[in-house]
Amino acid sequence: MRMVLLGPPGSGKGTQAQLLAQRLGVPQVSTGDILRAAVREGTPLGLRAKGYMDRGELVPDELVVELVRERLQRPDCAGGFILDGFPRTVAQAEALEDALREQGRALQAVVYLRVDDQEVVRRISGRRSCERCGAVYHVLYDPPREDGRCDRCGGRLYQRDDDREETVRARLRVYEANTAPLVERYRAQGLLREVAGQGTPQEVLGRVLRALGVSRDA
Ligand code: AP5
Repeated sequence: MRMVLLGPPGSGKGTQAQLLAQRLGVPQVSTGDILRAAVREGTPLGLRAKGYMDRGELVPDELVVELVRERLQRPDCAGGFILDGFPRTVAQAEALEDALREQGRALQAVVYLRVDDQEVVRRISGRRSCERCGAVYHVLYDPPREDGRCDRCGGRLYQRDDDREETVRARLRVYEANTAPLVERYRAQGLLREVAGQGTPQEVLGRVLRALGVSRDA
């Protein structure tokens, strides 16, 4: 499956991408996770990206497009991928189409997670992420077994710098201006699958799999 997860900040893209990656056996490609790792490691990409991320702005297209283009050429993406947080602008969507065309491939589906702003704020304010493996938790909705420790790898859980209320508001504005227009673009291409994002992660996963035409038990 070659697919994109689209939706506002905090709509559950990362959570669904991890569940889908296990279920479908293809990698999650999260530009947010790749950029945060680059910031942590202090690479040239991370140094350039940090200021944009801290302000809730988009990292310039040319930086992000190059990292996705390189990532999709790796062998583990040969059987498909789940893009999480990319594309976010029309220019990124066009670059993705070009990159896939060069490889003789095309997108198969774009899942759009619909969640209202109040729920977004509730979800983001309680989010905790593993600094080692990137697993995502919520202090109320999806708590780890041991406080502050990742169930999967035992890594430390932390709150993202860009999850402060002011920055979340900026991210929502940036989403509406730059990313929301992609919904109509993908609808016109016949790729869009709209899914209601409320309910538990497993309930949402069931809806996503149905929208993709994948049986839950297969
Ligand atoms: P990125 O990391 O992509 O952030 P985002 O799109 O704002 O999305 P989030 O990670 O905040 O949320 P999500 O939808 O993944 O939700 P999650 O599953 O975590 O990007 C960060 C920054 O990087 C950007 O601002 C930008 O600067 C830069 N960047 C990244 N990609 C870029 C690009 N392509 N171009 C330019 N710049 C780029 O869930 C949220 C919380 O809710 C969690 O606590 C989770 O446990 C909980 N939750 C999830 N599902 C449910 C549910 N069903 N019920 C209850 N709780 C739930």
